[in-house]
Amino acid sequence: MIDLVVRFPEMGEEAWQTAMRLRLPPSGEYTAIAVLGMGGSGVGGDLLAALLRPVFPVPVVVVKDRGLPAFVGPQTLVFACSYSGNTEETINAYTAAKQAGAPTIVITSGGVLHGLATAHGDPRVQVPPGMPPRAALPYLFLPMVNALRRLTHMGELSGEWAEARDALRAMVAELGPQSPRERNPAKQLAERLFGHMPAVYASSPDLAAAAYRWKSQLNENGKVLALWHAFPELNHNEAVGWEDGTTAARLAVVLLGEPAEDAAVARRIAATREVSFRSAASVSDVTARGSARLARLLSLVLFGDFVSVYVALLRGVDPTPVPPIDEVKRRLRLPAEGR
Ligand code: F6R
Repeated sequence: MIDLVVRFPEMGEEAWQTAMRLRLPPSGEYTAIAVLGMGGSGVGGDLLAALLRPVFPVPVVVVKDRGLPAFVGPQTLVFACSYSGNTEETINAYTAAKQAGAPTIVITSGGVLHGLATAHGDPRVQVPPGMPPRAALPYLFLPMVNALRRLTHMGELSGEWAEARDALRAMVAELGPQSPRERNPAKQLAERLFGHMPAVYASSPDLAAAAYRWKSQLNENGKVLALWHAFPELNHNEAVGWEDGTTAARLAVVLLGEPAEDAAVARRIAATREVSFRSAASVSDVTARGSARLARLLSLVLFGDFVSVYVALLRGVDPTPVPPIDEVKRRLRLPAEGR
């Protein structure tokens, strides 16, 4: 797993270049984008929605279910993402999208979804096989960014990826396994989280997808429970839960923030630290890197990916296998499906 995290920037570059050659559906008048995907294959949709929210004129909706929202139709561009291609929810939602007449791009390494995409003649991104899906995030996410860049002429996204790639490469040198603990903030943060339940909070909804990725990676790699939320909404509910001092003392807060935080946001977070986090085991700040949104989101993702693996190593667990995910999939699989 650590080797795969180290390869994150290079996977991203490969994915970006491959997506240049992807055959695209006609650039029609889309009224919405829907991303279908579960778990490690769905978080790319969360990141896409976060990336495009401030600049894109149509909504990006992420569907983590076997059914589709009723708005999906011929004017919805659908990305169907499943690393294995065998995730029941995504296959079902993809089939519903075809029935709804939605133009669809499939992103998968194989499986049933690969066969269905071929049968329907859909454009398909071929993801390299043999990885845990969550480790293949660059292959699952960046082709969507590049496809939308081409379909909507958002040329600035090319520069955003170049900036992100360079920032991620620098982070691998700083946070990777070769970098000693004294100079490695990811290893230091993992030590602060070890023995506690992480509570990962994003400074705004713009970074919430990164907080969710941290939580998911801490779950799947670190094999720990974790909380996640985003300001300002957390001030309206979760902040009150911190009144439970016994639980609060077991929580280690991680605040994901922007390099230049908006003054109002900074005041809000400072106040919340005093009011709610005073009894936390620790409070750590992780600051996004880069000037554009893509670098800022992906730098937080990569930082969290390293931390989650270091937490696993401190706990003496193997970050790679995810038996509870596999076991439920196995129990739900219908014998007739043969997959
Ligand atoms: C496993 C992982 C899971 C899977 C999810 C969906 O590494 O992260 O969350 O991504 O169970 O499976 P796929 O990605 O094959 O559609």
